[in-house]
Amino acid sequence: MTQSDSPVSRSPGRPVLLLTRRLPDAVEARASRDYRAVLNPEDRAFSGQEIAARAAEVGADAVLCCAGDRLDAAAIAALPQGVRVLATFSVGTDHIDLEAARARGLTVTNTPDVLTDATADIALLLLLGAARRASEGERMIRADAWTGWTPTQLMGTHVGAKRLGIVGMGRIGQAVAARARAFGMTIHYSNRRRLAPELELGATYHAEPEAMLPVCDVLSLHFPATAETRHWLNADRIERLPPGAILINTARGSVVDDGAVIDALKRGRLAAAGLDVFENEPNLHPGYRDLPNTFLLPHLGSATMETRNAMGFKALDNVDAVTAGRPAPDRVV
Ligand code: DGY
Repeated sequence: MTQSDSPVSRSPGRPVLLLTRRLPDAVEARASRDYRAVLNPEDRAFSGQEIAARAAEVGADAVLCCAGDRLDAAAIAALPQGVRVLATFSVGTDHIDLEAARARGLTVTNTPDVLTDATADIALLLLLGAARRASEGERMIRADAWTGWTPTQLMGTHVGAKRLGIVGMGRIGQAVAARARAFGMTIHYSNRRRLAPELELGATYHAEPEAMLPVCDVLSLHFPATAETRHWLNADRIERLPPGAILINTARGSVVDDGAVIDALKRGRLAAAGLDVFENEPNLHPGYRDLPNTFLLPHLGSATMETRNAMGFKALDNVDAVTAGRPAPDRVV
């Protein structure tokens, strides 16, 4: 809570906005200027039920939540009726039971577009980090185990002239393709709909992702986590990839079957994996940590100051719209 005597800041008459996590200073400043904002300066992670209880306690009109806040059907049902909008500080909405929100007449909004470039940058960092064995090199130096340059030390895979297969060619997939082209990669993609030629830019379309897998020297995943896509990359699909393929995941951890990926990494069936997202974050499968051929980041896709500010402002734009009775610009439900 922001104040000891009152759960909300002083702006009587303004709607009450509950922020579930600590947000960048500029975002909190705008929230506190325009709302009776309830902040979370300790940045404690609350359960869905705790968020609902806090929303009831402070009489929230709106909740600005984040990826990682589990707002399942029970939590949505427990939200007080006064809450009109759940604005998530993320493009992904897999942490929210959208059907429960729809049934309750609750508007849910997200933050598309503004994190496209930052996330695509991280995908390329993962690609280079995994292909060029950056984790092993970094650990060698930090452990003071580097005995000097040798012609055969930590030889990785050259990414230029390799085939990159992108599953899910939305905004982020296209931004990854643009960056990978600059490295001389050939782009293949699979998407529900084929892109127009000016967006496809010579990439090869595969209506079925399974048909694309045999040409993916690198496979990068860019589709939402849903019940249908859970563990999409399983042992069968891994076997369709060329031997020694590299996996990149900036989407959500649940879209890969960790056991199958770890087994393939151990056998060299997958040469390496660059992962920014994990099932059950932050409790990732311990097998990933033990492998030398993984390049692991703690869900940093959108983690730049510029991007996180833009995400926060977008979330607030959505709250502004709904609390003023206007349509939300980024309405999901
Ligand atoms: C998102 O926006 O969904 C990211 O995963 C959090 O940055």
